[in-house]
Amino acid sequence: MWCFFPRRRYIHSTLSLMKKLKGKSVAEQRWLMRQLRDPYVKASHAQNFRCRSAFKLLEIDDQFRLLQPGYSVVDCGAAPGAWSQVAVQRVNSSGTDAELPRGTVVGIDILNVPPLEGAHFLSCHDVTDPATHAKLLELLPGGRAHVILSDMAPNASGFREMDHDKLIVMCLSLIDLAEKILQPGGSLVCKYWDGIFVQKLQKKLLSVFSSVRTLKPNASRKDSAERFFLARMYRKPVK
Ligand SMILES: C[S@@+](CC[C@H](N)C(=O)[O-])C[C@H]1O[C@@H](n2cnc3c(N)ncnc32)[C@H](O)[C@@H]1O
Repeated sequence: MWCFFPRRRYIHSTLSLMKKLKGKSVAEQRWLMRQLRDPYVKASHAQNFRCRSAFKLLEIDDQFRLLQPGYSVVDCGAAPGAWSQVAVQRVNSSGTDAELPRGTVVGIDILNVPPLEGAHFLSCHDVTDPATHAKLLELLPGGRAHVILSDMAPNASGFREMDHDKLIVMCLSLIDLAEKILQPGGSLVCKYWDGIFVQKLQKKLLSVFSSVRTLKPNASRKDSAERFFLARMYRKPVK
């Protein structure tokens, strides 16, 4: 077998890499090389996760234990579904462990999200749209979620400030969503891109959550402006 002969294996993998790179632009080749070298991409294939971002949520949840069996979770910007896969496992929403309470996972995306056992997806739905909020209220047990997750991101325009601004607006809309569906004491994890409006978002979060901290999981690429806020102990605003 070729795999017992390192030299042959090297030639085989070099040839297969050359085949993959053929006909690609320089930018595509760079992206492909990065993917092929990335340990999280390899691990996501090995563990059947839909993409490498699963490891960001696994890392956050291993540290903070947000996703408990029986919990209801809303996954905003769910496609292709890796965070939902993690949530399904952790809240036991497919009932894999009959001894534990069964949770609920609802994922939302403007794109189509392929089906996943244990999750309900609102594909082609905008998280910022009040009509989506109304559907969520119907799908969540008692109309309440214990955790809101958001790995949402707009299509990057390449203009850093503009993309940052857009994502902050999306994150701020999660505060309105929280008011409608998040349990008192619940948590929110939201991705943002670092920039000038971060403090505004943090301040808004601190007005309704008792604790807000910034996270940069190891699985988040070092050269990316991506960060996460973990906001805990939700307090419904008094009007
Ligand atoms: C980085 S991907 C999410 C990856 C996902 N967490 C996973 O693990 O598979 C960001 C997603 O946010 C979605 N998105 C962007 N704006 C949205 C919006 N307004 N409503 C819902 N989804 C949105 C995009 O379509 C995209 O699929």
